[in-house]
Amino acid sequence: MLPRLLCTSLIVGGLAVAGGCSKSEPSKAELDSASAPIKASAVIEKKPGVEKAPQSGVDYHSFANSNDYQVQHLDLDLTVDFSRKVLEGEAKLDFKRLNDKNLPMVLDTRELEVVSVSANGAPVKFSMGEKDSHLGTPLNIELPEDADSITIRYRTAPGASGVQWLEPQQTAGKKHPFLFTQAQAIHARSFIPLQDSPKVRITYNATVRTPKELRAVMSANNDPQAAKDGVYEFEMPQRIPSYLIALAVGDLKFKPMGERTGVYAEPSMLESAAAEFADTESMLEVTEKAYGPYHWDRYDLLILPPSFPFGGMENPRLSFITPTVIAGDKSLVALIAHELAHSWSGNLVTNASWRDLWLNEGFTTYLTNRIMQFVYGDERYQMEMALGYDDLQADLADKEPRDEIMAIDLRGRDPDEVFSNIPYEKGSLFLYELEQKVGREAFDRFLMEYFNHFSFQSITTEDFVKYLDKTLLVEHADKLDRERILEWIFDPGIPEGAPHPKSDAFTKLDPVRQQWLDGKLAAKDIDTKGWTFHQWKYFLDGMPEKLTEAQLKELDGAFGLTESRNNEVAFSWLMIAVRNDYEPAFERLENFLTSIGRNKFLRPLYRNMVETGKKDVAARIFERAKVGYHPLTVKVNSLVIYGKKES
Ligand code: BES
Ligand code: ZN
Repeated sequence: MLPRLLCTSLIVGGLAVAGGCSKSEPSKAELDSASAPIKASAVIEKKPGVEKAPQSGVDYHSFANSNDYQVQHLDLDLTVDFSRKVLEGEAKLDFKRLNDKNLPMVLDTRELEVVSVSANGAPVKFSMGEKDSHLGTPLNIELPEDADSITIRYRTAPGASGVQWLEPQQTAGKKHPFLFTQAQAIHARSFIPLQDSPKVRITYNATVRTPKELRAVMSANNDPQAAKDGVYEFEMPQRIPSYLIALAVGDLKFKPMGERTGVYAEPSMLESAAAEFADTESMLEVTEKAYGPYHWDRYDLLILPPSFPFGGMENPRLSFITPTVIAGDKSLVALIAHELAHSWSGNLVTNASWRDLWLNEGFTTYLTNRIMQFVYGDERYQMEMALGYDDLQADLADKEPRDEIMAIDLRGRDPDEVFSNIPYEKGSLFLYELEQKVGREAFDRFLMEYFNHFSFQSITTEDFVKYLDKTLLVEHADKLDRERILEWIFDPGIPEGAPHPKSDAFTKLDPVRQQWLDGKLAAKDIDTKGWTFHQWKYFLDGMPEKLTEAQLKELDGAFGLTESRNNEVAFSWLMIAVRNDYEPAFERLENFLTSIGRNKFLRPLYRNMVETGKKDVAARIFERAKVGYHPLTVKVNSLVIYGKKES
């Protein structure tokens, strides 16, 4: 099957043009990088129905003809209208021409209402192309020959896929509405018309107009002192990909945590968040020391309402964070290490397309573990590593081979629906193997140089392999095997003899669990004093598929699992409860599903319910909860429950 994008015909001002078909004509640079001697094609050609490997550096998830024009800078002026759930205003795009063909410019949009387009102050012709269910709708613009910028007046749809509008009762304070955006992977186009591809990097300025009682923050230079007058100005002077543009508006206060770090949150959450994440400044310092300078000036956190669909999102200078990790004991702060690490792997060196996501998430997961070790020591490091390994094994047991490939072929697929642990944990394990082979010191040096070499660039998997060819593979030719590296990146599964991280703090729990299962040890006699959340999770996740009602009651009675306030522990327990039909936990289950929007929890719980014959209960809870869910949460869980997207 040909990629859908090849077939898009564009009608601009009554003329059929080929602007949207740029995917069929990769640039020389794309071809050069695609010609790296890599066996991706060998792997992919084996698959029935797919003729060719995806081309390196081609973004199959953007309509934009970024080989003809490259947007350099965005000027945004938006008014936030809570009553209509609409952002409206204008986006001015400054661009560079990459050839003199003067083709129509194609931008990405999704459900945007484009009001007008102008260049040099005069209106220009534009048209909306054919809508694609995954990609949105191309916007085709006819350009005057001398234009180097265009201004688009537009408004968003109330159901924009990248925006969530929250009613006051969905916030901590219950008094004011809240808004946040989530652009990764391909949702920036639902609130800004632009070249929505990670290979395009831009700077941006923004003016955001809000109700006077609220504060706006962005992935930019936030000023906590800015007067609350309803008009906020922002500047992001570093070049970033579009998926890192982010905005939130709400009743927000700021508290500093260190010299360069602080937290924005609703007033009632501010103190607990600042206490939970008090180690952020130390994390920043150790990461700089190991991997090179932090290039983004400040690093602040924004605590969102619980419907945020992710744990965190690495929006530059301002990571967006779920409140569900505020456990009271810093047990879940690896999330902060993770989002911070993206300031190097992801934001500084960026995946050029969504096929290359593992370059963002695999490197970041590896760095997360290292940061956790620097700040909290070896035992915590081993536990984080071991849990990651177990997550990877669970995914490998569950996925089709094509989805176990790090450089995944996403043509014709919605990146939101393919989300998994593979780019994270397989990517991280691969880097850990490299570290083990060349030694930690050499590997750290390599990483520091890699971040420096590719800083502020978007790179492909093949760029990475070429870089390895010139660095580690030369310096450590005796220790590394190129074929094996390609196997990691382009083959399903993990190569034989891959490392298997373990933790003593975990392995000592195995006999305890077994004794309890064998009826030789009562739950109340298990010495759980001092167990960390990680140990609880390991203990619970290692339970067999089936437990008896009596066993479930005993565990719950001894440890109060149904009432656990640690959301990770509660999740592990609820997974057990669902598959064993343990009814005493069902009220908590419903409460969990209706009060938390994090898909990492929701999707497995709903799937588990469907797979264990409780589809009706799942559907009933989902229907009740969905008004409060983020559009992404609605989309992916509708698929899980009903097997199709909501219309
Ligand atoms: N950048 C991701 C979130 C993301 C990835 C959104 C791909 C859309 C598409 C973020 O950094 C992330 O990985 N979050 C994880 C953190 C966890 C692995 C510590 C999450 O939200 O669970
Ligand atoms: Zn991440």
